[in-house]
Amino acid sequence: MGWRLQSETIAFVPTMGNLHAGHLALVEQARQCADKVVVSIFVNPMQFGADEDLGSYPRTLTADSAKLAPVTDLLFAPPVAEIYPRGHGVSSQIDVPGVSEGLCGAFRPGHFTGVATVVAKLFNMVQPDYALFGNKDYQQLQVIRRMVADLCFPVEIIAVPTAREEDGLALSSRNGYLSAAEREIAPRLYQALQSVVQALVQGRNDYAVMEQEGLYVLEEAGFVPEYFSIRQAGSLKLAQPGMTELVVLAAARLGKTRLIDNLACSLVE
Ligand code: PAJ
Repeated sequence: MGWRLQSETIAFVPTMGNLHAGHLALVEQARQCADKVVVSIFVNPMQFGADEDLGSYPRTLTADSAKLAPVTDLLFAPPVAEIYPRGHGVSSQIDVPGVSEGLCGAFRPGHFTGVATVVAKLFNMVQPDYALFGNKDYQQLQVIRRMVADLCFPVEIIAVPTAREEDGLALSSRNGYLSAAEREIAPRLYQALQSVVQALVQGRNDYAVMEQEGLYVLEEAGFVPEYFSIRQAGSLKLAQPGMTELVVLAAARLGKTRLIDNLACSLVE
C-alpha cells in the first residue's frame, strides 16, 4: 500500500462484523487518530466454545462493506484458512493470565485465549500504530492491554465508550437474537448496573452483598445471571474498600441470548 513508506499512520479496528453504531463509533474515533483506517471482519472460530453460536453468528459482509466504504481505507475480511492455515487447535496460542481469569473467562473457557491469539495475528498482519476496542467488552479490553504490554507489541490501545440504545441497552450483534418480549427486559441489565454504581458513589462498600442483590435483581427481571461483580477498574481485582476506581460488570442470559455490560465509576471527589 505504500502507506508506511510515506510515513502515514494506521489505526485498526478489529471486528467480527454485523456492524452497528458501536462499531462505527470505533471507526469514527480511528479516523481522528491516524491517517489511514483499517477494519477487519473475521468471525474467529477460536474464541467460540463448542456449545456457542459460531454457526449462527450473523454474517452480513455485503451490508458491512457498504457501511465501511465511506469511512475506511481498507477492509480486511480473510477466510478462516488464511488466519488458521494449520487449524486453530494445533497452532501457537496466547494465554494472558490474571485479567482473563474469572468473569467471562470462567463461563467461556478458552475464549480469551482465542481473542488474544487472533488479535495478535491481526496486529502482525496489519501492523497498526493504534488499535481501537470498545469498553463494552471491558474484560477483553484489559486482556488486550495486558498482552500488548507483556509481549511488547508496538501498538497503542485506545478504548471507546459503549454505544447504547436510547433505553440504555448496549449495542451488540447478539441483540438481534432477542425476541420482542426479551428486548423489553434487556435494558434492565444496564439499569441494575446503574443502581449499583449510584450506591457505590453514595458510599456503600459492602461489595459482596451488593453483588448478591445485583444477581437477585436480574433474576427477578427474568434473566439467568452468570455473574454480577464489582472490581477494581483496569486490574479487575476484587473490589476492596479504599479502591477509588471501580467497575461493575455483569453477564446474564435472556432466553438463548447472552448479554454482557459494565459501568465504571470513580469514587474520588
Ligand atoms: P465484536 O464483538 O465485533 O466487537 C468489535 C469491537 O467493537 C470490540 O472492540 C467491541 O468492544 C466493540 N463494540 C461492540 N459493541 C460495542 C458498543 N456497544 N459500544 C462500543 N464498542 C462496541 O469483540 C470482538 O468483535 C472480537 O472479540 C474481536 C476483538 C474482533 C476479536 O475476534
